Amino acid sequence: ALRGVVALDGPSGTGKTTVARKLAAKLSAGYLDTGAMYRVVTLAVLRAGVDPADAERVAEVARSIELNIGTSPERPSVALGDEDVAAEIRGPEVTLAVSPVSAVPAVRELLVAEQRRIIAEVVDAQGGIVVEGRDIGTVVTPDSPLKVFLTASSDVRAKRRSAQDSAAGRESTVDDAKASVERRDKLDSTRTASPLRKAEDAVPVDTSELNIDQVIVALAELASQRG
Ligand code: C5P
Repeated sequence: ALRGVVALDGPSGTGKTTVARKLAAKLSAGYLDTGAMYRVVTLAVLRAGVDPADAERVAEVARSIELNIGTSPERPSVALGDEDVAAEIRGPEVTLAVSPVSAVPAVRELLVAEQRRIIAEVVDAQGGIVVEGRDIGTVVTPDSPLKVFLTASSDVRAKRRSAQDSAAGRESTVDDAKASVERRDKLDSTRTASPLRKAEDAVPVDTSELNIDQVIVALAELASQRG
């Protein structure tokens, strides 16, 4: 079983979520999807009719909501209060607005504190957790013994995202998906507050030519060496 935190960062469409969940299950560890937390805040912002670019009001919304996120890799759950919002937070409205919302420093402060609290609780109870996001290795748990930075070519990422959208019943072309992942990555990498970047000591893994199982095998090996 895993001891401590595996920090899994990278842009969208690199297979992060699938890899994180399978790795956590394999290592009998917990799982935390920090992107889901930014998405829930974004959903609440949109429902409140607040402009995602209005940092002050976005921060107010973030402070006012009750976000409930589960840490089971088999059954991840995410709720706003007691409403299950797992499907809605993956929709196009939230995906379009999530980058500006997550660029607000007050939102990040709030969620990073919450993430650290959840991580400590799970490590205490279970020994280990796999955490996926954009700033886990650089900001949330910089002392984690294993940091991985997943990448993939933008063509591969667009195809994966488009296939995921279709599987979830959302209309999607590869061209649209490509524009969407490229736009989000640009915003996420160029923001001032905790931009998406590889931690210096993170292991880069290019998943363009690898299937999920090959990635899991490679990461489980790294985790057993360092965890
Ligand atoms: O991983 P996912 O695509 O669900 O993340 C949605 C968005 O949340 C990202 O595009 C990014 O803007 C934001 N995010 C972040 N920091 C994290 C995780 C996600 O800023 N640790």
